[in-house]
Amino acid sequence: MCGIVGYLGHRSASSILLDCLKRLEYRGYDSAGMGLHVEGGIEVLRGAGRLTGLEAKLSSLNGHAAKAQVGIGHTRWATHGKPTEENAHPHVSPDGKIVVVHNGIFENFLELRAELSYAGIVPQSQTDTECFPLMMHLMMRQGIGFEDAFSLTVDRMRGKYALACMHADHPGKILLARSGPTLVVGLGNGEHFVASDVAPLLPHTRTVTFLEDGDIAELTARGLRVLDRTMQHSVRRPSQRIDWDDDAAELDGHPHYMRKETFEQPRALERTIEAYLQAGQVDLGLPALEEAWTQIDRVSILACGTSWHAGLVGKFLIEQLARVSVEVDYASEYRYRAPLATDKTLAIAITQSGETADTIAALSEAKSLGARTLAICNAVGSQVTRIAEGTLITRAGPEIGVASTKAFTTQLAVLTLLGLRLGRARGTLNEAEAAAVGSALAALPGQLQRVLELAPQIEQIAHEFYASHDALYIARGPLYPIALEGALKLKEISYIHAEGYPAGELKHGPIALIDRDMPIIALMPNDAHRERTLSNLQEAAAREGAIIALVAEGDRALDGIASAVIELPDVHPAVAPILYSVPLQLLAYYIAILRGCDVDRPRNLAKSVTVE
Ligand code: F6R
Repeated sequence: MCGIVGYLGHRSASSILLDCLKRLEYRGYDSAGMGLHVEGGIEVLRGAGRLTGLEAKLSSLNGHAAKAQVGIGHTRWATHGKPTEENAHPHVSPDGKIVVVHNGIFENFLELRAELSYAGIVPQSQTDTECFPLMMHLMMRQGIGFEDAFSLTVDRMRGKYALACMHADHPGKILLARSGPTLVVGLGNGEHFVASDVAPLLPHTRTVTFLEDGDIAELTARGLRVLDRTMQHSVRRPSQRIDWDDDAAELDGHPHYMRKETFEQPRALERTIEAYLQAGQVDLGLPALEEAWTQIDRVSILACGTSWHAGLVGKFLIEQLARVSVEVDYASEYRYRAPLATDKTLAIAITQSGETADTIAALSEAKSLGARTLAICNAVGSQVTRIAEGTLITRAGPEIGVASTKAFTTQLAVLTLLGLRLGRARGTLNEAEAAAVGSALAALPGQLQRVLELAPQIEQIAHEFYASHDALYIARGPLYPIALEGALKLKEISYIHAEGYPAGELKHGPIALIDRDMPIIALMPNDAHRERTLSNLQEAAAREGAIIALVAEGDRALDGIASAVIELPDVHPAVAPILYSVPLQLLAYYIAILRGCDVDRPRNLAKSVTVE
C-alpha cells in the first residue's frame, strides 16, 4: 500500500527517490509522484500507473530536476478517489508552496473539507490527503510559521498517518509526522533518507531511526530532530543498525523475486533457527514474558491470510508440545465478535509486515482486555513490534514478492521454537522429545535444499495442469493448513480457483466436484494420518480425479493411482509443514508463469495491507 520516501543531501534527489520508490513497489500501488526543491520553488510530478510514467516525466524536465538535492516521493494505493494523476501524491497548497505525501487515512477529512470550503479553499482532488496542505495553507495565510502550521494541522487530523512535508521557502527541511504507519529515517554521511520501511534505505545506509507514534520530526542537513507535539522540546529516539544483506532486496540473477525468495528459504530458516536455538537449547530472549509461559491458560493467535495459515499450524504445534488450548482468529473478525481474553491469555499476532491494520487492531483489542502480547514479525521496528510486550523476529530478510514464501516458513519455524519453549517451561515436553524436535529443525535447511532440487520435476507437472480452472488441496493434521496455504498461493498468483480441505472432509461435500478436470494436490507425509489420507485418495481416484501427491521418500503406495508423485525427505512431523510448503510454492510459481501472470505483483494485491 502507500509508500513514502524522502531525500536530503548532496546527490541528485530525483534519481535517489526514484530508486527508493522502486524498492517500495512491492507494497502495491497504482499511481506515483514526487516533489523536488528546484531553483525558485518546488517541482511536482505525478502520474497514474507504474513508475515508468513518472520516470518519463522526470527525463522530460531536461536535467532541470536532476539538480534538486531535496525531495519527497510517494506510491499511492487508491482508497479515497480513483488512481488518477489529480489524486496522486504529493498534494500541494493553492500557492504551490506546501507539498505533502501521506500514508494512512484522515478519518475526519469530510469535516475538514467543509471547513476549507467555508474559507473559500477548494480541493482539486478527491483524496483525504489534500486537506493537509490546504489546512496548512489556511493557517500560514493567517501568519502562522511553517513548523507551527505543520504541527497544528497534525493536531487537527484524526486517523492513522505517516507524513512528509516540504515548503518552497524552506529548501533544506523536510517535516515528518507519524501516528500509525511506520516512518523510518536513514542517517547517512552528509545525507539523510526517509521511507515507509527499511528496504529502500539499504543501499545507502544501515543506521536508521524509527519514529514513534505521536512524533513530529524535522530533517535537515544537521540530521534528525524529533520533537514533541508543541515543537518546543526535543525527544531522544535511538538509532539502530539493520543487518540485512546488501543484495537482500535485489533480484540477484533470478527472473522474479518469488523464485529468489523461495530458493532463499534454506538460508532464511537457518538464520531464524540459529537466532533462537543454540546447543539444543531454545532461548527466545523475551525476559518480559518468561513468567507468562507457565501462567497462561489459553493462547489466542491473530493474523490474516498466509500468516493466519501459519497460526493454524501453530495451533497444532503448541497444543501438542505445550498442552495449552490455542484458538486462531482472522484478525479482521476478532474485534467484532466480543472476544474473551484475560491476563492468562497469550495473544500472538503473526504478521510478516508488522503493518497489517486488522492484525494491529486485533492485538490492541486483546491487550486492552488484559492479555499478554507477543508478535511474530519479519519487520524490525514495525507497528506491531511497538504494541506487543515482546517480538520474535523472523530472519527471512526483505520479502519483495507479494506472495509470501520465506516469511511464511520462517514464521512456522518460530512457532515450532515457541512450542518447544512453552512445552519445556510447562513441563509437558521431556528433554528427549524436545531434543528430537530441535534436531529436526537444525536438519531442515539441508533437507530443504534437496527439495529445491526438485524444481525441474515440479515445473514439468505445472506444464500438465496450468490450463486447469480449479484445484483441490487436501491434507490432514498440521499439514491441513499447508493445503490451505498451497491453494491460496495458487489462486493469488495464477488466478486459478483453488480450495484447501482436510482430506477427511472430501466425502462431506467437495467430492462432488471431482472429475478428470479437477487436479487434487494431496500432502501425505509419513505420519500418523498417512493411512487415512491414502483411503481418501483412493476414493478420489475412483472418481477419476488427477492426483498430484507429495509423499515421503520411498512411499510407493500411490504408484499407479496418482498422476504425479513428488518424493520429499522423511522428516519429523513437527517440521513437515515447513518442508511440504516449498513444493506448493514452486508449483504455484511455475503454473502462474505458464499462464503469463505477473507473479511478483498479482492483480489487486498489496504486500502491506494498512487499511481495514
Ligand atoms: C499471501 C500473503 C497475504 C498476507 C496477509 C497478511 O501470500 O502474503 O495473505 O499473509 O496479507 O500480511 P502480514 O503477514 O504482513 O500481516
